[in-house]
Amino acid sequence: MKESQQTTADLMDRYVLGNYGRFPIAFSRGEGSYLWSEEGRRYLDFSSGVAVCALGHCPPGMQEALRRQAAELIHCSNLYHVRAQAELARFVVETMMEIPGKVFFCNSGAEANDGLIKLARKRAYDKYGAAAGKNEVITCQQSFHGRTLGGIAATGQPKVKTGFDPLLPGFLHVPFNDVAALREAVTEKTCAILFEPVQGEGGINTATPEYFAAAAALRDEFDLLLMFDEVQCGAGRTGDWCGWRSVLKGSGISVEPDAVSWAKGFAGGFPMGSFWASETHAGVLGPGSHGSTFGGTPLACAVAMAVLGEIESGGVLENVKTQNARIREGVAKWDFPVIRELRGVGLLLGFVLDTERMSGVDGFLESGNTPSLFVVNRAREAGLLTVPAGENVVRWLPPLNVSAGEVDEALALFGGVLAGMSV
Ligand SMILES: Cc1ncc(COP(=O)(O)O)c(C=O)c1O
Repeated sequence: MKESQQTTADLMDRYVLGNYGRFPIAFSRGEGSYLWSEEGRRYLDFSSGVAVCALGHCPPGMQEALRRQAAELIHCSNLYHVRAQAELARFVVETMMEIPGKVFFCNSGAEANDGLIKLARKRAYDKYGAAAGKNEVITCQQSFHGRTLGGIAATGQPKVKTGFDPLLPGFLHVPFNDVAALREAVTEKTCAILFEPVQGEGGINTATPEYFAAAAALRDEFDLLLMFDEVQCGAGRTGDWCGWRSVLKGSGISVEPDAVSWAKGFAGGFPMGSFWASETHAGVLGPGSHGSTFGGTPLACAVAMAVLGEIESGGVLENVKTQNARIREGVAKWDFPVIRELRGVGLLLGFVLDTERMSGVDGFLESGNTPSLFVVNRAREAGLLTVPAGENVVRWLPPLNVSAGEVDEALALFGGVLAGMSV
């Protein structure tokens, strides 16, 4: 068969590692909140590359930044000073975090989290010495922190670890939002607590203000680092620059972390990760202690700056809150037996499915799919792209600049799918 006659799926099958379960579709074009398949069908994309395309597909400002910077300087080693890195770091510290500190740039969320783990261990090592063994990191069950060896060790889901022994030691996983279990787990060996303010892959679970407060109190009592993985929930997705600030708003509880990681939407689809460390701890990773060849290239930084700058100046954070309210209003009018709850913050939303009722849905049992995958497939067939989060939750992750009209279209498409699932 001639190469041109082979479908993308055939070629993928033949040449690309089969480590992903992929949906049977390939896209050739994207614009704003829409994607077009190779066959020319238009889809409303409420997955955004799993919380990546913060301003939708191919936003003009991002294209312009790519073009401009690509013509000037694409890569420059970290052997030298890099202006675009400095400017982006200033934005992260002064506008996003609003807490003094310093920033490291890398290429993905897992790498950013590896950096956090190294920061916490090195800080305890420098202060207490190797003999103290203060190197354990506490993370949560159902968490997701990435696919590197550090990431899978930190992740609180057995499915990502199986077969990869020996895992990096020094991680304890506690039930999410269980203050007593967290207290019980912390010892003199603990060097950090790391959690997602809103768990994404684990099913859109939001940390309670009391959990933040307890973690911060333990930080002070045991002299450890409090670190947030904002790879999915950060950089504006919750309607504020910082996911934890959205969660704590109105609770009367105020907590400041020691370190925070980002990736996904941080550069709107250009591969980039980063982490911030507070001024107190930023000096821990001195020359030679950590690095990345591609971390913080002029191109990546210029693109990230364009994306984050547009979120800041374009009223995008406000739009996240407005569209969240519109979605909630629309969903409040629904009465579909298979939906138990809509949860989440900003535009990081999860529809929780009623698993018992799902088993009565026509075609569900025969499909052999999990409830979330079944609904995601049906939605895609109807022209709406969504993402499973665990077995029972369907995620909506629209672009942060999604319009009211697109929200209404998604509500109509998803509502139509759910209406077809009589039980
Ligand atoms: C909270 C969280 N942390 C880390 C990661 C890993 O990021 P990456 O795939 O960029 O390594 C993810 C990816 O889904 C995530 O959701």
